[in-house]
Amino acid sequence: MNDVIKGLEDVNIKWTRLTSVDGEKGILRYGGYDIEEIVDKGASAEEIQYLFLHGELPSGEELERFREKLEEGYDLPDYVIDSITGMPRSSDVVGLQMQAMSSLAATSHLDWNAENNRDLAARVIGQMAAITSVSIRHVLGKKPELPWRSDNFSRSFLRAVFDKEPTEKQVWAMNAVNVLYMDHEVPASTTAGLVAVSTLADLYSGVVAALAALKGPMHGGAVDQVVGQLINIGDPEMVEGWFNKNVVLGKKKLMGFGHRVYKTYDPRARILGSVADSLALTGDSAKLLQVAKALEKLGVSTMGSRGIYPNADFYSGLVYMGIGFPPSNGIYPALFAVSRVTGWIAHFIEYVENQHRLIRPRAVYVGPGERKFPAPLEGIR
Ligand code: CMC
Repeated sequence: MNDVIKGLEDVNIKWTRLTSVDGEKGILRYGGYDIEEIVDKGASAEEIQYLFLHGELPSGEELERFREKLEEGYDLPDYVIDSITGMPRSSDVVGLQMQAMSSLAATSHLDWNAENNRDLAARVIGQMAAITSVSIRHVLGKKPELPWRSDNFSRSFLRAVFDKEPTEKQVWAMNAVNVLYMDHEVPASTTAGLVAVSTLADLYSGVVAALAALKGPMHGGAVDQVVGQLINIGDPEMVEGWFNKNVVLGKKKLMGFGHRVYKTYDPRARILGSVADSLALTGDSAKLLQVAKALEKLGVSTMGSRGIYPNADFYSGLVYMGIGFPPSNGIYPALFAVSRVTGWIAHFIEYVENQHRLIRPRAVYVGPGERKFPAPLEGIR
């Protein structure tokens, strides 16, 4: 038993009824529903949040009750707001989300309890939206603003962040990206959170662990890297030269491409590409979309034969930009987390309620064999 499975590739850590990913065919389903169909039929983020937490789509009445629980989360305690506004304006927004969620972990004193887990989950989803609104506004130099009740989660969130009524197009795009990012089986962030809650640490601590793993450039942080890459290229004319210099000769990874599971197009990348198209970007962002299209074409023709294709993060940054969020301070990965928190918690509940066992793998020792510990060195011990 001396094998090490690097990166836990193809290791199954739980059973799930939440999400299935067929990486060869590029199929993603939530509870059996195809992601394309979910988006085409205009499902709201709240319906899918409910699906993940309760296993089936809600009736009108169930959705109403779920919304109420979620909206309870908008009302953040002052100490959570202060934990954000006390930080420098130059802070990273995912870091601020961790800070605020840690303050809730410090004060919640909650046990896992099948009676309450789903109501708490709804509240945490609302809290995440409120925390993110306060955090984004803080790094943009604005005073805290909390979401308030509306007919739509994405509308409430956008209204709080921008402190004005969003357009229907903005709400539609935000809802689409919220649905598309909501769960993706057990990527690094979900796994990190599962490790935390497998010790029976509380739900908030699981979310903090998941946020920490999401932050890195190979996972949620890739959204920022992709936008940085597009800004760096700057013009569709420059794509080929940039690609040859950096990816072909420089052996750098093309950000927004490649996936541990998908060896073909990530279906979310195609949908997000068309959402970015529909936003009718103007000025600099329109230019960046042209750069992205040219880069996508060249990347696929060069690396597709090795199973390296665009992933969800390739176009999501342009969607966030088209909605009006600036590409700074880790705002884009933080928006990813507003959506993904649902998938994290749904997996935590599934694991703790049905399959709980402490996650405690082994390491293969390859250091020195047994040796005598030396006598004390004068002046040290
Ligand atoms: N550009 C160029 N080469 C790549 C890329 C890429 N984006 N991705 C993988 N490869 C190559 C890699 O260099 C390696 O080549 P070789 O076998 O010659 O050494 C081979 O493909 C396998 O790569 P790996 O990094 O071992 O594969 P992995 O399954 O561990 O990595 C990944 C998956 C997502 C970390 C990787 O594809 C990557 O770093 N992509 C860029 C970052 C990115 O877009 N991340 C977002 C991930 S999806 C959404 C999300 O979770 O947020």
